[in-house]
Amino acid sequence: MELEAAIRTRRSAHRLIEPAPSDQEFTELVGWAATAPDHGHLRPWRWILVRGDSRTALGEAFASGAPDAEAVRREGRKPQRAPLLATLVFAPRRNHRVPDWEQLAASSAMVNSLMLLLHDRGFGSMWRTGSSVDSAGTRCLLELAPHERLIGWLYIGSPDPTRRSVPRSPVPVDSRISLFTAPPDQAGAAQPPAEMIRSCP
Ligand SMILES: Cc1cc2nc3c(=O)[nH]c(=O)nc-3n(C[C@H](O)[C@H](O)[C@H](O)COP(=O)(O)O)c2cc1C
Repeated sequence: MELEAAIRTRRSAHRLIEPAPSDQEFTELVGWAATAPDHGHLRPWRWILVRGDSRTALGEAFASGAPDAEAVRREGRKPQRAPLLATLVFAPRRNHRVPDWEQLAASSAMVNSLMLLLHDRGFGSMWRTGSSVDSAGTRCLLELAPHERLIGWLYIGSPDPTRRSVPRSPVPVDSRISLFTAPPDQAGAAQPPAEMIRSCP
């Protein structure tokens, strides 16, 4: 699949069915996704794969903070929406010259590449978060270290062939893109660049 076609046709899938990629295939794809821009090549993340019956335990953790019986049922069922829940753990290198936000940006870039690679192999995925990312029950079940942060789950599987996915159109972005033209740095310019820069707060 060409890259542009992959971008145009990838859609987040709310429900996914078997098969999901094997551990080996997932690892292979993450290896490629990890070539995304990453300042310092820190790879400040790790994945915890949750499959099969283990999804029930994860559902219990999701439900642990639910306020009522209906919410307990709803939260508990969530991990059953895909055969593979790849848990993304942000594990930033603290006190590093690359600040946290850049490490988070690198993690995000990796996820986007991974989603496109999964799509290219015929798999569907959806990035989900929710209150469970910060819940003590989920953190405890998955044995997160204190400095680690859950930044969501990539729900992964195969798209349901009975559900048609509509290819997208490009987002109108004209108003979000502008061209900076430096004012001429000479007599006659309302405010020459050197003066502008000097007067910056
Ligand atoms: C960090 C992150 C967290 C998200 N969490 C959720 C979520 O918990 N629930 C949800 O319905 N969509 C969530 N989304 C949005 C979906 O993943 C998806 O992008 C959205 O449904 C649009 O579908 P599309 O990817 O086909 O454009 C999240 C997206 C990101 C980037």
